[in-house]
Amino acid sequence: MSRLTLTKLRKMKQQGEKIAMLTAYDASFAALLETAGVEALLVGDSLGMVVQGQESTLPVTMDDMVYHCRNVVRGSHRAFVLADMPFMSYATPTQAVDNAARLMREGGAQMVKLEGGSLLRKTVEQLTTRGIPVCAHLGLLPQSVHRIGGYRVQGREESSAQQIHEDAVILQQAGADMLILECVPARLGNEITQALEIPVISCGAGPDCDGQVLVLYDLLGISPGKPPSFSRNFLDGADSIPNAIQAYVSAVKKGQFPTLELSY
Ligand code: KIV
Repeated sequence: MSRLTLTKLRKMKQQGEKIAMLTAYDASFAALLETAGVEALLVGDSLGMVVQGQESTLPVTMDDMVYHCRNVVRGSHRAFVLADMPFMSYATPTQAVDNAARLMREGGAQMVKLEGGSLLRKTVEQLTTRGIPVCAHLGLLPQSVHRIGGYRVQGREESSAQQIHEDAVILQQAGADMLILECVPARLGNEITQALEIPVISCGAGPDCDGQVLVLYDLLGISPGKPPSFSRNFLDGADSIPNAIQAYVSAVKKGQFPTLELSY
């Protein structure tokens, strides 16, 4: 297999080489991103907002995810491809196994991503013991937006920071091979990255994680609505989309993105 593997991504963490990840939803951008040096493509359920024009990620279905994942896999050859399990597609461990199998078999994903803490321990065990790699997602959980009451920074208070840290350790023990930390203070991003053996990718979790991910349309400044305060429009100052993406990869690799000003 010529695609980047989890072994390679783990080696990058050990060697201190930053991982550049971006969301992708179609074949053309998938090809362009990997050519620009993006190592991992996340078929995010953010497609509900940036592709479908929905208000949240909640309406995204398994069929939507399989469709977009298949297109991203078709357009790329070297990048590692992971895909979101959409809202309520992993409500029970059995449902999670069936739907994750679809994402891998029909969509061609190498890994699936699930939002949630230690309540998912059993689900992560069921998936990973069946050979399905899992990326955990902690901090701001967009699929829980109505419970949280909006898209807010998580882990500011000591008790919630501790909860997120404990959840990260439990999910790694359950077999998760990667963690995305969304919208948490940079100090917490740093602590969890130091504590875990698996790669920790920051989405608004500060500069010290093992890698960075942004929603592609935020990076290009074309997302509807206000972009998150931790993102940067890389098309500003670049003369083309490929150059904007290369500027993102270069900034991530050099540890120049995000700056502390773009962190919490
Ligand atoms: O759906 C998505 O794009 C994501 C990223 C914001 C991490 O989960």
